[in-house]
Amino acid sequence: RLRYRYIDLRRPEMLEKIRLRRDVTLNLRRFLEDEGFYEIETPFLTKATPEGARDYLVPSRTHENSFFALPQSPQLFKQLLMIAGMDRYYQVVRCFRDEDLRADRQPEFTQLDIETSFMEEDEIMGLMEGMIRRLFNEVIDVQLPDAFPKMTYAEAMDVYGTDRPDLRNPLVLTDVGDLMAGVEFKVFSGPANSDDGRVAALRVPGASSLSRKDIDGYTKFVSIYGAKGLAYIKVNDRAAGMEGLQSPILKFLPDDVVESIMQRTGAQTGDIVFFGADKTKVVNEALGALRDKIGQDQGLLEGDWKPVWVVDFPMFDWDEKSSRWNAIHHPFTAPSCDADELKANTGKALSRAYDLVLNGTEVGGGSIRIHKTDMQQVVFDLLGMDAEESEEKFGFLLDALKYGCPPHGGMAFGLDRLVMLMAGASTIRDVMAFPKTQTAACPLTSAPATVSDAQLKELGIRLRKPPVVEEK
Ligand code: AMO
Ligand code: AMP
Repeated sequence: RLRYRYIDLRRPEMLEKIRLRRDVTLNLRRFLEDEGFYEIETPFLTKATPEGARDYLVPSRTHENSFFALPQSPQLFKQLLMIAGMDRYYQVVRCFRDEDLRADRQPEFTQLDIETSFMEEDEIMGLMEGMIRRLFNEVIDVQLPDAFPKMTYAEAMDVYGTDRPDLRNPLVLTDVGDLMAGVEFKVFSGPANSDDGRVAALRVPGASSLSRKDIDGYTKFVSIYGAKGLAYIKVNDRAAGMEGLQSPILKFLPDDVVESIMQRTGAQTGDIVFFGADKTKVVNEALGALRDKIGQDQGLLEGDWKPVWVVDFPMFDWDEKSSRWNAIHHPFTAPSCDADELKANTGKALSRAYDLVLNGTEVGGGSIRIHKTDMQQVVFDLLGMDAEESEEKFGFLLDALKYGCPPHGGMAFGLDRLVMLMAGASTIRDVMAFPKTQTAACPLTSAPATVSDAQLKELGIRLRKPPVVEEK
């Protein structure tokens, strides 16, 4: 399909999706123009902007040994535009990220990128909500809720195991760690007594008829996320007490603990309760993914469109491998606390970031930004960048902040993801005219491709492994 994409695109359903994309873009542009936003272009040949992926590099001919990076987003340029006094910026813009691809990720994709000065997060979220509500109403005749619900990151992780919960799915995670702390079964008591451990239950109503084979399938599924097993209790007859339950772990658990689990999860006759016990990260990822999968398999999804704002993200998470802090959004996101508090309580500090999640897909994210040099420097320090490194990478930003920077914030939507959802497509490839494959290649043009020796020489580049020339 990608090799002869022009033929593929002739099919009415493909044409329809490309047309929908055009309608969406036009509608969003009209909204923003009506609200006084200006579309301003920013450079593609630029310096690295950290959004958590690898950069695509472009060698410079005129500056030997130097490279441009294609932007992962226009983040820093839009902040510079705020310093320039252009209060309301937007751009429909291509972004480039060299990362592992999935159904909702492409190496080049389009953002609707937005920034404003002097607005607080509630005003920005309100404006964006209005834009998305009008978009759905006018383009696909869908009425989204009047106010999108807000949920904290902590709640999302506790209840759904993910920061992009699909609220159409009624299944929830229930903490049972406190009940398991004293049991003999080490698989449960270990994580229950550990600071970075979690023991959680996932009750699935009406699913006690799942077969051994189904359960083995789910056990294999959660192992992808690092789970070492998937304990379960089938509730065949709730009124019959312990006699009415069926499970390989009952023999390890005292009756009163089992009864408390039944009460806390609200388990009833005909249900099955699954358990995850491990490091918190593993339990959240495994049970979060299982929740999605079972929701789909059992046809549990309720309602068509469930948007939710996720707020109060932590500023940083700890990267065990390189033992340092990572920015959860990008390093220009403002913290909710002052610099002293941020330094004293780095792991607990929250950011002024917000994500918009629709039916389990993160369609957009943004934040209030840091607008003062000293706070920006503190964040760079915490990320392990010394003065020299931050000067080398972001000196132009630190410098610009000194010339008077208004408080500002904004957000970016993944346009491809938005159109994918509106089109009912299962991958963003279906709403892009010329997408790339899973290995970031274009079968139509055969890009990426080798280049001539003359071109390489001009760029001052010698390949470490020159291509093998096949004999004709
Ligand atoms: P972020 O990195 O969250 O934020 O990106 C914003 C939105 O872009 C979409 N997106 C993608 N879509 C397709 N393929 C990809 N590889 C891909 N990566 C991201 C998502 C995501 O929500 N500069 C900040 C925004 C800001 O703070 O204003 C940024 O880029 O839908
Ligand atoms: P075992 O004692 O290892 O045979 O495990 C007994 C039951 O607990 C089996 O149903 C396993 O699938 C389950 N189990 C093992 N490890 C975990 C874990 N980390 N989280 C949840 N269930 C587990």
